[in-house]
Amino acid sequence: KRHLISTGDLTRDDALLILDTAEELARVSQRSIKKLPTLRGRTVVNLFFEDSTRTRISFEAAAKRLSADVINFSAKGSSVSKGESLKDTALTLEAMGADAVVIRHSASGAPHRLATWVRGSVVNAGDGTHEHPTQALLDAFSIRRRLGRLEGLKIAVVGDVLHSRVARSNVLLLHTLGAEVTLVAPPTLLPVAVGTWPCQISYDLDAVLPKSDVVMMLRVQLERMNAAYFPSAREYSRRYGLDRDRFARLHDDAIVMHPGPMNRGMEISAEVADSPRSTIVEQVANGVTVRMAVLYLLLGGSEPAIGGAE
Ligand code: CP
Repeated sequence: KRHLISTGDLTRDDALLILDTAEELARVSQRSIKKLPTLRGRTVVNLFFEDSTRTRISFEAAAKRLSADVINFSAKGSSVSKGESLKDTALTLEAMGADAVVIRHSASGAPHRLATWVRGSVVNAGDGTHEHPTQALLDAFSIRRRLGRLEGLKIAVVGDVLHSRVARSNVLLLHTLGAEVTLVAPPTLLPVAVGTWPCQISYDLDAVLPKSDVVMMLRVQLERMNAAYFPSAREYSRRYGLDRDRFARLHDDAIVMHPGPMNRGMEISAEVADSPRSTIVEQVANGVTVRMAVLYLLLGGSEPAIGGAE
């Protein structure tokens, strides 16, 4: 495949190839702190029209670890403020020799449009409320590392599904990989089309927790929220927040995840976020490895990816 835009485009074999390649890259990285020569001479452009900490930095770290040249483009401070279109911005970057463009954009579908304009690979780093495929891949990788498998696991994805590109990408990917996903949210924070997604729906977090192997908390996206379907933070926390009492309802091997950034004290308490059964810090570290695997598989190196650090 040339682009990574939706986890819905990945077959089970595609997804497992990415996870297994990431596993192998993690093993190589542990043996050597030096760069791999795999993408030497290739250029990766990080094209970010929306804010990001984890995704932008980890794509940069991943590309550099594979010896690619990296150009970081942030819409703030660019000619976008003078009205330049996405297409003209993309063609400008293409003229500078981009082999891959990693794009984050507030408009759902922007990476799909971009892929029709540029010759290089397009990687979706989050588009509107649509998808965030590398987040789902790093989440699947983190679950498999902690629990040893994905097939048959019961995974609860909890909170602001309405605005969450992470939720959609995870539902599609985890279903493909054989897990059973339950979305848990107030009815006002579920998208209208959720009935067509390959998952269960529940409004009752307390009932779902004891049956779950993984609980993935979503950030309440206050910047996109409408008061009509989010009455108050206190009420939300009372019904859907993962605090100490709810955490106690989980079975002993269950893990807690969050893609970040977190609203500590709203969807997750600090105590739960920092507990040994939270994978939140591991998810960030695994993000670099998984994004290395994605860039390697899309761009193909002139050198074998695995083996031989310089
Ligand atoms: N999880 C995630 O996408 O975080 P950033 O917005 O910081 O990239």
